[in-house]
Amino acid sequence: QSPLLIDRHGRRARDLRVSLTDRCNLRCTYCMPAEGLNWQPADELLSDDELVRVIALAVEHLGIEEIRFTGGEPLLRRGLPQLIARVADLRPRPEISLTTNGIGLHRRAQEFVSAGLDRINISLDSLDADTFERLTRRRRLDDVLAALSAAAAAGLQPVKINSVLLRGVNEHEAPDLLQFSLDHGYHLRFIEQMPLDAGHIWSRERMVTADEILDRLSARFTLTPDAGAREGAPAELFQVDGGPATVGIIASVTRPFCGDCDRTRLTADGQIRTCLFSRGETDLRGLLRGGGTDEQIAELWRATTWGKLPGHGIDDPSFLQPDRPMSAIGG
Ligand code: GTP
Ligand code: 5AD
Ligand code: SF4
Repeated sequence: QSPLLIDRHGRRARDLRVSLTDRCNLRCTYCMPAEGLNWQPADELLSDDELVRVIALAVEHLGIEEIRFTGGEPLLRRGLPQLIARVADLRPRPEISLTTNGIGLHRRAQEFVSAGLDRINISLDSLDADTFERLTRRRRLDDVLAALSAAAAAGLQPVKINSVLLRGVNEHEAPDLLQFSLDHGYHLRFIEQMPLDAGHIWSRERMVTADEILDRLSARFTLTPDAGAREGAPAELFQVDGGPATVGIIASVTRPFCGDCDRTRLTADGQIRTCLFSRGETDLRGLLRGGGTDEQIAELWRATTWGKLPGHGIDDPSFLQPDRPMSAIGG
């Protein structure tokens, strides 16, 4: 039997996405309500020592090659640079990446790189201060723009931007966001809105689809599908005006990529999830705190992975949105 994280559909997990907190300092309307959510209590979150133990065994025994820290907003986790440094000390050394909204990053980008951060993805849905505020309920556009510059200056290349488009709010900004990214050398990806919001207000009709995004971009740019290897990455790439620059579309809903999925997830409160849309979770924290050995934890993870469903099932009539929103699962 393989020691790696393999499922019955022949996929292997190489990328571990670790949520560090469910809290956030923005309130994106497609994610959480203005008043926030019932945050997970501190004693239910994995400690830094617990996280390092789990990540180490995933890297040493389960074939995990990349660690991506997410949230909520991962920069809100105290001691993040030290955590990155401890993960960077593991052998084989995993690639270390961060998905963040960028608030406060401009002061800390260099510190993260020195600790061992390799790559960063920053969310930016609008270049207009008022629209940014309408979307995130916070007037912080300038912080995010400063974060992008600081990340590039610190050597995190390429800096990736994640944009979610909302109908009637920022969808018209698609070409502006692309021009901005081209001008600054950032790599832009548009994300189809997924049914993972806390308020369960997602609807297929309101989602801006990949086809619509491509139509809007085509009004100003010539896009050609990029034949380059996608390798489990969720983004489908298109060359812009003959290249070399590309733009990505993450079309989880209308062009699902589950067949190539190479991910496994750990929530901030220590639950294993095989998918963003899993209905169930596997409690790793209990085993960790109950004296479980590394081999027992590894075996639990392998068994959980084996049962991973072939797809997210959003198109099934019986689809149910997960109980927890994306901010609690990890993006
Ligand atoms: P790269 O390795 O840099 O390509 O990162 P990434 O695109 O996998 O990660 P990022 O955290 O930037 O996520 C971008 C978007 O893709 C977010 O909306 C994620 O929720 C979504 N995403 C990440 N992993 C998965 C996945 O396994 N399935 C689906 N459907 N969406 C995902
Ligand atoms: N659907 C798609 N993307 C989402 N994000 C947050 N919620 C959703 C959703 N329901 C995006 C954020 C961030 C990335 C990690 O996921 O905007 O860019
Ligand atoms: Fe925060 Fe990300 Fe959710 Fe926006 S999408 S509220 S930045 S966790």
